[in-house]
Amino acid sequence: MANKPVLAANWKMNPISAKEAGDLVNGILDAAKAQDRVQIAIFPPYIWLLGVLELLAGTNVELGAQNCFWKSSGAYTGEVSAAMLAGICKWVIVGHSERREMGETDDQVAKKAGAALAAGLHVIICVGENQEQHTAGKAAEVVAAQVKAAMAEVAADDSERLVMAYEPVWAIGTGKNADPEHAYRTMRLIRKAAGNLIGQKAGQRLRVIYGGSVNSQNIETYVELPECDGCLVGGASLKADEFSKMINMTAAVYSAGAV
Ligand code: PGA
Repeated sequence: MANKPVLAANWKMNPISAKEAGDLVNGILDAAKAQDRVQIAIFPPYIWLLGVLELLAGTNVELGAQNCFWKSSGAYTGEVSAAMLAGICKWVIVGHSERREMGETDDQVAKKAGAALAAGLHVIICVGENQEQHTAGKAAEVVAAQVKAAMAEVAADDSERLVMAYEPVWAIGTGKNADPEHAYRTMRLIRKAAGNLIGQKAGQRLRVIYGGSVNSQNIETYVELPECDGCLVGGASLKADEFSKMINMTAAVYSAGAV
């Protein structure tokens, strides 16, 4: 795959102090700086964004937020807009299953992705089937429908700033990472479904990554897959040593030209 791979660290609602956030950033910088093959982006909670931004100045590690709102400003208590984030971050995640579980709809995910791209951000859109849908053999159907809905406001020109993350809900935070063959088939389907919407050429340019219980024990089995342009890492990104190891391993796989 000619696309530059990306390794994204989704910190979720962690850590609880600025000091720990700073330690975590400093703990991964050596590994990140030692390579230029993989794009690294970290996604702290909103409250740590400015502090982390300072620590990342002059490094090759990029900053992102975990969510955004689609209106640029106004009476929306508790929300943070894509337009505001664009002044601070390069990236934003939209449609994470933990937000969908709290009531976020396909339509809202589409609006967030559209607003974020319009604001100039790079966007990770998360899709993935839940356990029940997986067991019923409906993964392909569910994921294709989510891709179609979430990309309603995406244009072909946005493809280089778009990453589609395949995150099976049953694999997130459970230690039950997806079988690489299943991940491969679903990631191929995501690229095809995206290509049907914005053109197959643009579909080749966007990146498709895997997320769900990725750690240093299993990351190679994903980044070696031909359709896989990187990983979205939750729990394992909260340990600097573990995430550093994952950076080194990912860089080694892509540098070896295996994919
Ligand atoms: P996990 O989370 O790596 O802890 O499973 C992944 C994610 O939710 O992005």
